[in-house]
Amino acid sequence: MNKGTNGMRYITVALAKGRLAENTLGLFEQIGIACDELKDKKSRKLIFVNEEHRLIFFLAKANDVPTYVEYGAADIGVVGKDTLLEEGRKMYEVLDLGFGKCRMCVAGPPSAHDLLKHGELIRVATKYPNVAKDYFYNKKHQTVEIIKLNGSVELAPIVGLSEVIVDLVETGTTLKENGLVILEEICNISARMVVNEVSMKMEHERISKIIKDIKGYLAKQDQQLVNGGKS
Ligand code: PRP
Repeated sequence: MNKGTNGMRYITVALAKGRLAENTLGLFEQIGIACDELKDKKSRKLIFVNEEHRLIFFLAKANDVPTYVEYGAADIGVVGKDTLLEEGRKMYEVLDLGFGKCRMCVAGPPSAHDLLKHGELIRVATKYPNVAKDYFYNKKHQTVEIIKLNGSVELAPIVGLSEVIVDLVETGTTLKENGLVILEEICNISARMVVNEVSMKMEHERISKIIKDIKGYLAKQDQQLVNGGKS
């Protein structure tokens, strides 16, 4: 199967550091592509070469993954839909990987319900200014002031920086423990596989095979869940 692979160019895969990368490496392992070195949590190594499959994996900050893919420094990327929406870069989104599921929401203290309902000029703190702008300006036609933060966004309404936040909600624990509630849901989020537009043409066969194998594995998993649920 690997005969003649020596002349092949490397296909590069950019992974968003953290949990998404761990899940993705597990997925690649399931389709027969191992990258043990990157799975070692103690290691600070950012790049791993799989000679057998002529693949290079590297770990990047989530927000940078779409940049690497759009410029072609990575042929393939795995990143959250939240990051894709925020970065708005040009590339093909080819697969919903089904993990990293959460929701993009407007949240705040229960009292903020009325402010939203009456379309008042409110302040919105978020790590996702573009997503928040698109939601409030284009979908709700509500003028708001967007304040960009870099994390722990739930603090903002508590300390009076903003009336509401736009942020990811997974289990809802962070909101709950800080006395906040979901006010509006913007969209569902999960990990996505993306492909550089030129790479998709130039390396169509190899990239399609990876997509097909992962799709097949995910479908098998879903089927097992359905069957398991029945028995
Ligand atoms: C994310 C998100 C919420 C929290 C939601 O933050 O921004 O704060 O997780 O998860 P939950 O609903 O399960 O509580 P993250 O942990 O990435 O940290 P950050 O806020 O510092 O970015």
